[in-house]
Amino acid sequence: MLVGLGAVSTTTIAGVLAIRKGIAKPIGSLTQMGTVRLGKRTEGRSPKINEVVPLSGLDDLVFGGWDIFEDDCYAAARTAGVIEPALLEQVRPELEKIRPWPAVFDRHYVKRLDGPNVKKGKNKKELAEQVADDIRRFKTDNKLDRLVMVWCGSTEIFMTETPAHQTIENFERALEANDPAIASSMVYAYAAIREGIPYANAAPNLTADIPALVALASRTKAPLAGKDLKTGQTLIKTIIAPGLKARLLGVQGWYSTNILGNRDGEVLDDPESFKTKEESKKSVLDYILQPQLYPDLYENLCHVVRINYYPPRGDNKEGWDNIDLVGWLGYPMQLKINFLCRDSILAAPIVLDVALFLDLAKRANMHGIQEWLSFYFKSPVHAPTVYPEHDLFIQLMKLKNTLRFLKGEELITHLGREYYD
Ligand SMILES: NC(=O)c1ccc[n+]([C@@H]2O[C@H](COP(=O)([O-])OP(=O)(O)OC[C@H]3O[C@@H](n4cnc5c(N)ncnc54)[C@H](O)[C@@H]3O)[C@@H](O)[C@H]2O)c1
Repeated sequence: MLVGLGAVSTTTIAGVLAIRKGIAKPIGSLTQMGTVRLGKRTEGRSPKINEVVPLSGLDDLVFGGWDIFEDDCYAAARTAGVIEPALLEQVRPELEKIRPWPAVFDRHYVKRLDGPNVKKGKNKKELAEQVADDIRRFKTDNKLDRLVMVWCGSTEIFMTETPAHQTIENFERALEANDPAIASSMVYAYAAIREGIPYANAAPNLTADIPALVALASRTKAPLAGKDLKTGQTLIKTIIAPGLKARLLGVQGWYSTNILGNRDGEVLDDPESFKTKEESKKSVLDYILQPQLYPDLYENLCHVVRINYYPPRGDNKEGWDNIDLVGWLGYPMQLKINFLCRDSILAAPIVLDVALFLDLAKRANMHGIQEWLSFYFKSPVHAPTVYPEHDLFIQLMKLKNTLRFLKGEELITHLGREYYD
């Protein structure tokens, strides 16, 4: 179940349908193409991830979702303009069958949007019950065994925790009182988590990253993942920054700017939504570079992130990074990165992987925050006692070791002394 049938969701759904028919390949997806080494390097065992752990197959997936626009998934994919019409035509009948259920929506949280397909109710509790009804109906009508919900809706305004977010009881009272602290995204998350359904947040909104919903997830045994898919510029940042730090090269400044012209870009043009995104994008360098441990190298780092809404580019984002480096004896250097990417093409395999891995986690009785899925997110959710891990390579190791652990295989430490004994 995808909340928001926009560019990311429709690219995910149309992509899975096309891959299922054998007309395209699942490039970028660990669950479909990734391998995991098992045992010693001398054993030569590197099976595919989906042969090691029992993931649901693509043929078993059924998609449904909510949106404030009434367009079916085919029309929404045409509007998003990510996948070419010729490919969309080949999966058109299946896409047209997916019609969005009315949304829980309030413009207070997304200023730049408005649409007609919206639920009505006397308070947010009642709206949550309507979402729960949609979920139950979807499950029965399609004879489904299990469900996963992924928020792929627009980025909501920046919010911080209030008392309403602290306990399940406070949260439920706030739903009934229509407290503004309960954003639309939280209503969906509550409805899913209360049923024990795994929940992931593809956007940077606060949503389920609050004590009340984490506690509810632990009560109902729902796995959680988020926030904000790590796709374009931040993906590259978390690939480059660990390398610079590994060589102890200093960084004085990192200026990131990009242009994009899709609906996501339009929503992010609102300063309140942009702030949510900016916070999510900016934190990664602090955690990767650890200025507190390396003050000479990173203490005064100037990190600037800009997103410019530029309609002609649509979903084809262009990002520029200028990195001011410092080497031996303080000599300055520069690195420039120009990434001409496609936002939703990078996002879709993540949505698929996260849904399949969360379903696996649910069956393995792993509930609450799934830190091993940090690999996929810009602002990984984490226990309050630890800092989030942003280094892509550490995140990948954590993910693969979790898969080994689930199968009772030896964890890989990369020590490797045994080869020389
Ligand atoms: N594409 C990427 O690379 C990427 C990366 C990280 C995060 N994200 C985030 O993922 C989200 C989706 O991105 P997108 O490019 O698909 O945007 P989009 O604007 O194309 O799609 C979002 C959809 O959500 C709908 N929506 C908004 N509020 C809703 C609500 N309360 N209930 C139901 N539907 C609602 C909108 O009508 C729209 O159709 C955004 O928040 C974006 O910031 C995207």
